[in-house]
Amino acid sequence: MATVVDIAGLAIGFDNGPPVLADFTASLEARSFTAIVGPSGVGKSTLLRVIAGLLAPREGTVSAPFEPDPGRRPFALVFQEARLLPWRSILGNVLFGLERLHLSAGERRHRAFEVLELVGLADYAHRWPYQLSGGQRQRINLARALAVHPALLLLDEPFSALDAITRHTLQGELLRLWHATHTTILFVTHDLDEAVYLADRVIVLGGQPGARIIRDFLVPLARPRDRGSVGFADHVHQLRSALSDIMAGGEGI
Ligand SMILES: Nc1ncnc2c1ncn2[C@@H]1O[C@H](COP(=O)(O)OP(=O)(O)O)[C@@H](O)[C@H]1O
Ligand SMILES: [Mg+2]
Repeated sequence: MATVVDIAGLAIGFDNGPPVLADFTASLEARSFTAIVGPSGVGKSTLLRVIAGLLAPREGTVSAPFEPDPGRRPFALVFQEARLLPWRSILGNVLFGLERLHLSAGERRHRAFEVLELVGLADYAHRWPYQLSGGQRQRINLARALAVHPALLLLDEPFSALDAITRHTLQGELLRLWHATHTTILFVTHDLDEAVYLADRVIVLGGQPGARIIRDFLVPLARPRDRGSVGFADHVHQLRSALSDIMAGGEGI
């Protein structure tokens, strides 16, 4: 399988402070779904910002053999809260991220409707953010990220503010979108059940300050996954054990 992003020897810190991450090395395969879990404050969000190029690392490299393409962006980052612009319609919000690409107005509109269709909210194009539920807002957030056809989609606890039922629905939606768009995903979560439900691979971070990769699991369970199965519970249990080893070192999750 082709590698989409090669992350080698990343060390990350702020100003002259202690390192947040001491060493992070991973290759992400094309079309893979990788989850990153770890205690709160371990540096998960910071890692995504470095990978997206929003923050420079102290050491190490993020290399992505992307073909330069004026109609795509290499990365799109989705946060926990939808951060929609309240003064723009839903369509306007999706178009906003497309304005920096070299596309004609017609192409931008076509792309925007394509992704709204994909998340099942094309009928909401002319509504306003305040008229949407939390789950719908997060769907728009995903649509906005997918609209730029990112080579790597980075998601930072995107469903953690949602109620359990909506969260489960959106997890299913995300898997459908992943298949439909052939995108590569790096997904940060502190929810172990969510990591095992979604990902092919789970990377556990721990050890502050100066966190590193504590475990790197594959999740070879068939899809669609059954949360009630023994195999599923076994994977969640393995993750929980890895994390309780970290927490025995005095860290909270
Ligand atoms: N802009 C910043 N300046 C200084 N320290 C920061 C900044 N952003 C994050 N940190 C620190 O980096 C560490 C990791 O934060 P973060 O990546 O948000 O953790 P996580 O997402 O795993 O909860 C924390 O100790 C946090 O206080
Ligand atoms: Mg975070």
